[in-house]
Amino acid sequence: MPSWTRVSWIVVAVAVVVGVVVGTVTWAIIGRGPSPPELRNLDWWENTVIYQIYPRSFKDTNGDGIGDLRGITSELEHFVDAGVGAIWMSPIFSSPMIDFGYDISDFYDIHYEYGTMADFEELVSRAHELGIKVLLDYVPNHASTESDYFKRSVAREPGYENYFVWADPVIDSQNNSRVPSNWISQFGGSVWEWNEIRQQYYLHQFAVEQADFNFREPAVRQEMLNIMRFWIEKGADGFRLDAIPHLFEANPNDHGGVYPDEPLTGNMFLTSDQPGYTTQEHVRDLIELYDVVYEWRDFVDRWQEDNQAETKVLLAEAYANITMTMLYYGNERGRIGAHFPFNFDFITSLSAKSNARDFVYVINRWLTYMPRGQVANWVFGNHDNNRMPSRFRTNMVDGLNGLNMMLPGVAITYQGEEIGMRDGYVSWEDTVDVSACNQGNPDNYLEYSRDPARTPYHWNNSTSAGFSTSQSTWLPVAEDYREINLQAQKEAERSHFKVYQSLTRLRKEPAVSHGDHHIQALSKNTLVLVRHIITYDTFALVFNVGTETDTVDLSTITLLAEPMTVYASSIFSRRVPGDTVPLGEVTLQPGEALVLQAPPT
Ligand code: NOJ
Repeated sequence: MPSWTRVSWIVVAVAVVVGVVVGTVTWAIIGRGPSPPELRNLDWWENTVIYQIYPRSFKDTNGDGIGDLRGITSELEHFVDAGVGAIWMSPIFSSPMIDFGYDISDFYDIHYEYGTMADFEELVSRAHELGIKVLLDYVPNHASTESDYFKRSVAREPGYENYFVWADPVIDSQNNSRVPSNWISQFGGSVWEWNEIRQQYYLHQFAVEQADFNFREPAVRQEMLNIMRFWIEKGADGFRLDAIPHLFEANPNDHGGVYPDEPLTGNMFLTSDQPGYTTQEHVRDLIELYDVVYEWRDFVDRWQEDNQAETKVLLAEAYANITMTMLYYGNERGRIGAHFPFNFDFITSLSAKSNARDFVYVINRWLTYMPRGQVANWVFGNHDNNRMPSRFRTNMVDGLNGLNMMLPGVAITYQGEEIGMRDGYVSWEDTVDVSACNQGNPDNYLEYSRDPARTPYHWNNSTSAGFSTSQSTWLPVAEDYREINLQAQKEAERSHFKVYQSLTRLRKEPAVSHGDHHIQALSKNTLVLVRHIITYDTFALVFNVGTETDTVDLSTITLLAEPMTVYASSIFSRRVPGDTVPLGEVTLQPGEALVLQAPPT
């Protein structure tokens, strides 16, 4: 056969093979498409919504103007309705209520104003029947000075002598006796308080009545595990770990036998008894504390394994820089810590002044620093900070809830965020927060007060917003309850609550529960968050965080395709669920957010 004929046979054969391969692949892509990815089974907490209850302000059933456990039990359906998976209750244990429960006098009992142990058991069992997990607030850093622990330590009872951080006075060169160091408490004033009986100072990083445990004392470490075991055995599904950065202070053994003074920050607007006047290098974020958190994790994991139980979660409350925060997840030597440290960035790094780039930068910071394989979380408010719509703007509620629900990981809602509750007004006369009472005066107390974020929940427009049958409540009910309340929002055609419900539902979509995320500033004030996974619908949140109308071009986002429809929108938006949005220019009013649903790409 002449060589040109052989060549042409080869060419024909290659062409046929290539044709078959290309045809098959094309058929696979166009005709059948790629098969759906396997979706990893998520543990119960990994994609849940956690709702923080401030028990004193949630629901009062006995008419004393103070919320109680029966109130929480009576409203558990609200969480099912809202799409919440777990509740975390601020402390419910016996307490003189100097810091509204964060000063515990009996770690093994329920505070009498909140109910009884039987009420707690009922709450847990009913919640579990409804599929709601129950998390408790664990306060290991300090105990009330009314606790037995403290009283025994004051009396130097054997086994309790070193339960707290005790120190002798320092005698200076002029022979004057003074406090052991210049450290300042979180609520103002020295951390050192003289005890007449023991003739020593004790340390308190918070109120005078909240004495700090000594975590270098093995008996304290053991007791903390006992407390944890007690509540796990009562059915708790995990704990929020309070004030963890403060567990340790500098050890005098490392500083020539004294408690070293802190350097001054140089902040001239503060007086010498105000937090922030000194740096806090000797009183927070000490590396020793992480071993305690890792010890707790080992403990809950072992309990869970021994009892073949579901995961018991540990959530660390730590206001710290990003490096020290991430260490709560675990360290590089393979120790594992909290399931996550709370991400307070939306409280500490973003505000009404932030633009879209600030949002994108701050969100990416967490996701960049988070160790591989860990779960993110997003906090928009809590009982220690002004409420979310008051810190940002009231027209941003749905967009902020949209970010909370659409960012990867766990969403955390502080009670009232689902209906857009704002700060309540609390006069100086009505102020009860120890932080404001200690540091404030009638002119400046609002800078310190946490009461505005703690006013009672708005159930409806009846007496005391349906929180209590009494007109006199422990904190006044915010005046806007007639407009902003759950019942009205359930009845309205469009409301924050309805948007919230559709957002929690959205979390079940594979793109949101398992997909990739892509976040970008489309302009100075508008950001887009896209959640995407092959073969399933894509969802995108487009959110104007600014104060002016903004037009952006969606066609630059390659993960989006037409036809796009509105899945949810801010309650004041001209676009409603079901509306079509072209993949081109879109104009958003100030604060407006749209959640768009697009076909798989
Ligand atoms: C953090 C809590 O959230 C806050 O309310 C409390 O005052 C301090 N820890 C002290 O326990």
